[in-house]
Amino acid sequence: MQPERVSRRRFLTYSLASVGGFLASGILFPMVRMAVDPVLKHGEEGEFVKVGTVDEFNDVPKEVPFTKPVKDGWYETEEKLTAWIMKDENGDILALSPICTHLGCTVNWEGGGNENRFFCPCHFGLYYKNGLNVPNTPPPEPLQKYEVKIEGNDVYLGPLQPNPVTEKPEGES
Ligand code: FES
Repeated sequence: MQPERVSRRRFLTYSLASVGGFLASGILFPMVRMAVDPVLKHGEEGEFVKVGTVDEFNDVPKEVPFTKPVKDGWYETEEKLTAWIMKDENGDILALSPICTHLGCTVNWEGGGNENRFFCPCHFGLYYKNGLNVPNTPPPEPLQKYEVKIEGNDVYLGPLQPNPVTEKPEGES
């Protein structure tokens, strides 16, 4: 059996295709890696932010402004946030979002002369201290709460999450 002969034209075609593919992969791989890298890293950094120490908080909600680094692709910025932080009935740290669940206005502790309640001035929404929305006021659900992490004596806040509270605090009428 005769070995198959490769024509000069075919040899050149194969050679050029190989060299072209090699060069293209050398250029394309770093480009794809650069584009995808931020997506792969999403969520690794900046998830939790230190907002104080455990001793700073008691059973009275304290307004704590803080900033959180935000990375959107290659663009880095800071998000300004606020939490109402307190110790709950068990002495655990509870950090509530100030954003009203009705239409997104900002709530204040004991605003409008409402004792022991978070008050939303936009449509007179009320919440109990644990974030539960007071019945017969506009907010449809409790204030969201931040994920809390304690390391040593330091308090860190993470992402917002739904607040599963269904019972008003003890002693509330
Ligand atoms: S936005 Fe808060 S009660 Fe309407």
